[in-house]
Amino acid sequence: MKNVFIGGAWPYANNSMHIGHLAALLPGDVLARYFRMDGKNVIYVSGSDCHGTPITQRAQSLGVSPEYIAKHYHEEFSKNFNDLFFTYDIYSNTMTLKHKTNVQNILKEINEKGFLFEKTELNDYCPKCQKFVVDREIKGICPVCGSEANGDQCDKCLTSLTPEMLKDKTCKICGTKTILKEDTNLYFKLSAFEDIIKTYLDKNKQSWRPTAINETQKYLNQGLVDRAITRALDWGIELPFDGYKDKRVYVWIDAVLGYLTTCEMACEEKGIEFPEFLKSNDTISYYVHGKDNIVFHTIILPALLDAIDENLNKPQKIVSCEYVNLNNDKMSKSKGNLITVNTLLSNFDPDSIRYFFIFNNPERKDCSFSLEDFVLIHNKHIVGGFGNFANRNLAFLEKKFEGKLPKVNLDESIVKYVTNTYTEIGKLFEAGELKTACTKLYDYIQFANKYYDTNTPWTFAKTDKDKFDEITSNCLYLMANMSNLYSPIMPKGCQKLKDILGVKENDWKPVCYDESVTIENVQVLYQRLKLEDIDMSKGAKDTLNI
Ligand code: MF3
Ligand code: ZN
Repeated sequence: MKNVFIGGAWPYANNSMHIGHLAALLPGDVLARYFRMDGKNVIYVSGSDCHGTPITQRAQSLGVSPEYIAKHYHEEFSKNFNDLFFTYDIYSNTMTLKHKTNVQNILKEINEKGFLFEKTELNDYCPKCQKFVVDREIKGICPVCGSEANGDQCDKCLTSLTPEMLKDKTCKICGTKTILKEDTNLYFKLSAFEDIIKTYLDKNKQSWRPTAINETQKYLNQGLVDRAITRALDWGIELPFDGYKDKRVYVWIDAVLGYLTTCEMACEEKGIEFPEFLKSNDTISYYVHGKDNIVFHTIILPALLDAIDENLNKPQKIVSCEYVNLNNDKMSKSKGNLITVNTLLSNFDPDSIRYFFIFNNPERKDCSFSLEDFVLIHNKHIVGGFGNFANRNLAFLEKKFEGKLPKVNLDESIVKYVTNTYTEIGKLFEAGELKTACTKLYDYIQFANKYYDTNTPWTFAKTDKDKFDEITSNCLYLMANMSNLYSPIMPKGCQKLKDILGVKENDWKPVCYDESVTIENVQVLYQRLKLEDIDMSKGAKDTLNI
């Protein structure tokens, strides 16, 4: 495999990102960094999801335009991702002219192929607002679990819904009971893709997590039904067909096609042939998102891709995750217990944030965030493990030997251990097992610290310089490789350490320190955290203060 496409989910630009978004999206960047080091042609894309009812509702509640909201949060997200050292090749948004043209062209194309049709039916209408209410504009009782659900999905049991399935429907905007009124929409013949999707699932599911398989299977068991791709909204992409002036493209169709728009943009920048990149047998694709996004990536997107061109690569690796709870309680904005990415960045080192949410990623079950855990992991793994191994060696060399490094003189067993670690961690990354990879990396650090402790180099500094040099050379070699192996997860501190050790390579294979560098001004890589210094009110205020 030479090429890797990585699509990170497109967060709705209607509110600040929280730790649940972060946990879902971080694996994408770790994978992108790893595959680049491994010499692959990586295209890693995402963007802000700017259309649909999540945005129009927020705009309405604040009395501003949807565009204003979307632009505000798009900028905030772009900054958040930068601050967290995400390395998207393209981070775009769904409001660009390029994306709009792309979506419209695709719809025309699949219409010509006969995959769209028009249907007139009775839809939910709010007599007070005098408009059709769609998706998240409607609420009602979920037929499956009985909790309150939106018109498009129940967030509790994840069932994908259409409004006719809901009971006791009301307009979310004004609370009025909805009535039925005649309405015409465009539909996508999703039912025509049932066999294709079944084959696709069987071919790819081996590497998926149970929830991704179950959600997809559940949907298939119900039988694929045709889906409306138009909505009665005035915010979104216009339809390239007559008679739909008062409708816009359904936000999920718009959003998933963003992967194609941004992949094409990245290809243009890199001088790669575009659809070919996504058609090649030499390309593998990873899609990284939370569990409420799964079926859009395993059913809707593959069906659309197939409709466009059956040779386009369908999502192969689905890297989905569960929810992040807060102190064992479900996070919710209305309950006021939600931690934003802004708050984390106001308090913590980005490396530490990245490490924590990979180490504790809710890969197969929900995880719970607590400040106590965060502080503990940071102090134990990052400061006490990673930082300490670097510091104890480097500070000693600076103090006793003017920062001069010993000649490279390595034990075969150490070289072998390091070489094997690359293979092992690489395999885990490729399988999307980032959490396990993280645990194994911590084993590596413990191995390194133990090597130092059992060989006690400091005791030979005066009595047996050759022996001191030999042990220290192995320690520096372990350190150079620690900075390389950890760099997909903790890019900032790893780069610092690589600079200190004169490691220039950025490849997924063993590296060595540069004997000719001199260590000076040794400083700790990471500061110890104290619970009482943390102020979770920082960055917690709504950034849209109107
Ligand atoms: N905006 C959606 C959400 O926040 C995710 C869209 S993912 C996409 O849940 F790829 F489809 F864009
Ligand atoms: Zn209403």
